[in-house]
Amino acid sequence: MKFFIDTANLDQIREANDLGILDGVTTNPSLMAKEGIKGQESILKHYVDICNIVEGDVSAEVIATDFEGIVREGEALAALHPQIVVKVPMIKDGIKAIKYFSNKGIKTNCTLVFSPGQAILAAKAGATYVSPFLGRLDDISTDSITLIHQIVNIYSIHGFKTQVLAASIRHAMHIVACAEAGADVVTCPLEPILSLLKHPLTDIGLEKFLADAKKFM
Ligand code: E4P
Repeated sequence: MKFFIDTANLDQIREANDLGILDGVTTNPSLMAKEGIKGQESILKHYVDICNIVEGDVSAEVIATDFEGIVREGEALAALHPQIVVKVPMIKDGIKAIKYFSNKGIKTNCTLVFSPGQAILAAKAGATYVSPFLGRLDDISTDSITLIHQIVNIYSIHGFKTQVLAASIRHAMHIVACAEAGADVVTCPLEPILSLLKHPLTDIGLEKFLADAKKFM
């Protein structure tokens, strides 16, 4: 399973990358706004800065919601750097655009996916990644992990090549459940990634080992 970091914060991307376990980055307009990045030129430069930190795929989201606009924005984003993946919302014109990008060999991430039916459409259109959102489903008291199991199962039965990129990850248990469900990728903020390190017995055990080691010094 690949690990992507879900942020536009360059320091956090560097920190995750330094761990040696990072396979890519996802961003969205809210994450870019959180970093205070404004204006087309700054936004495009920021995507290139991210690509220069990591080796893997970097999702950059379009703002347009009409086919021509999505294609125009997506082609400009894809031309920025070979690591850019064009992130397109799950809407009618988005599906048309994903099919267009797929035919042109441009990688895509179909975002804002909340149902198995939407995931089937994304795969049929040839999306490189499909992004089902876990946390936002949990927020409305819906079992998000079942959705990951359903999509993984459907893709496996039908041989769809689209990778399941579990998004809107809020905590370590989401990551573990996605791994069990067979998600190809999880994208999460830095905190859930770092929280995988933690176990109280690790801390207690290390403290004891270090105390005992001092007896030999
Ligand atoms: C990533 O591709 C998504 O945009 C992101 O994971 C959404 O996360 P959120 O629901 O925590 O905003």
